[in-house]
Amino acid sequence: MSSQQKTFYIETFGCQMNFHDSEKVVGTLISEGYAQVQREEEADLILYNTCSIRDKAEQKVFNRLNDVKKLHKAGKRFAVLGCVAQQEGEKIFERAPYVSLVAGSASYQNLPEMLVQIEAGASRVTGLDDRETDQTFETEFTARTNPHRGYITIIEGCDKFCAYCVVPYTRGKERSRTSNSVLQEARRMADCGFTEIQLLGQNVSSYRDPAGKKSFAELLAAVGEVPGIRRVRFTTSHPCDFTKDIVDAIDAVPTLCDHVHLPVQSGSSRVLGSMFREYTREQYLERIAWIKATRNRELSITTDVIAGFPGETEEEFGESLSLLDEVGYDGVFSFKYSPRPNTPALQYADSIPDIEKSRRLLVLQEHQRELQRLSYRSHLGQTLEVMVEGKNPARGQLVGRTSQNKTLNFVVNGQPEPGIGDYVRVLVTQAFPNSLLGELAV
Ligand code: 5AD
Ligand code: SF4
Repeated sequence: MSSQQKTFYIETFGCQMNFHDSEKVVGTLISEGYAQVQREEEADLILYNTCSIRDKAEQKVFNRLNDVKKLHKAGKRFAVLGCVAQQEGEKIFERAPYVSLVAGSASYQNLPEMLVQIEAGASRVTGLDDRETDQTFETEFTARTNPHRGYITIIEGCDKFCAYCVVPYTRGKERSRTSNSVLQEARRMADCGFTEIQLLGQNVSSYRDPAGKKSFAELLAAVGEVPGIRRVRFTTSHPCDFTKDIVDAIDAVPTLCDHVHLPVQSGSSRVLGSMFREYTREQYLERIAWIKATRNRELSITTDVIAGFPGETEEEFGESLSLLDEVGYDGVFSFKYSPRPNTPALQYADSIPDIEKSRRLLVLQEHQRELQRLSYRSHLGQTLEVMVEGKNPARGQLVGRTSQNKTLNFVVNGQPEPGIGDYVRVLVTQAFPNSLLGELAV
């Protein structure tokens, strides 16, 4: 390519949805004649795909913009994409005048036109959508970064409006892709050598096939039956529409992984009510009972918990701790409550001091760590299949992931070394709270 080729740098903050959106944005930019570079200094266009789920995440992008604003003098263009873009909109131009594009995820379909405008010198291009958009961002150009394991978006947006959450405002209303188009993408990926697919959505369990052909559980099973696909995962589900047929599908189709991520947020039915989660602790536990009752496999269960939601009493916090004991999670993502713009929870008095929120978070994390220390030990002596995901030469180990989504590092003990993307069996010899260690089985 000539030295005049347009270049871009992109950095992604936040969740898997953002990560995958960036893969699509990268593909789109490349198809528009741009080349990706690894340093901001070398790029004509610098993009930040941002997250606003919690205040800390949002601050990161403004700090980042502040760090690099000196580069603006060199004639570079800056773009803010993602949830902060959608949330703050044109205010970003006031706060960071050197930014020339602000676009939320529901407008990426129009990225090529927006690029033309920036290239023509426009200084304030916006792609901001209200909640009414029906568009999903589909592109044949997705530049997947991992050649073995890839994401497929099946539903965008969220209609749940949990009291604390900004997502329904930043990612628009729920809109599902047809099962045909999802399956076509899965088959294309299998043809390209992918063996693991992760179905993505803010809330995959409320998937509704616009063509009316398949329920979420049926789509899951159908993706699992695509020849060449060995593992299928999905994230994330809302307990409210997590139905038993999803567990039945996992039980019946061997390629569906032994793992369910089912965010609970709190163990207290009163707090769940004030979060607008629309289920009680008991109803949540009913779903856990289905997951534990599979006949053919043992599923790992992970969750998200918020500590210090407005009005959460010490006793109600204790109910979150006892829920961890009762379910026996294999992983918990826990967060301090963070007030977010536009959300109904802003109306509640955020009466718990930050220091107390931090204390609860720490107590929760230590409690879970102890539970995991014990639960990970249950794998000692088992031989598990892993997909090889990487190498750690400093330790002479390979990095594998089990069907239950646990990291299992292993040594090969003089046997031929498997390649990245291979599936091998590993004997578990040591257990830690967040990972396992083993040796390649003979
Ligand atoms: N404060 C703290 N945690 C939050 N989450 C979403 N919004 C907030 C907030 N305002 C957490 C939830 C969700 C996860 C992705 O982030 O636990 O499941
Ligand atoms: Fe946010 Fe609730 Fe939607 Fe999840 S289900 S994205 S927590 S509003």
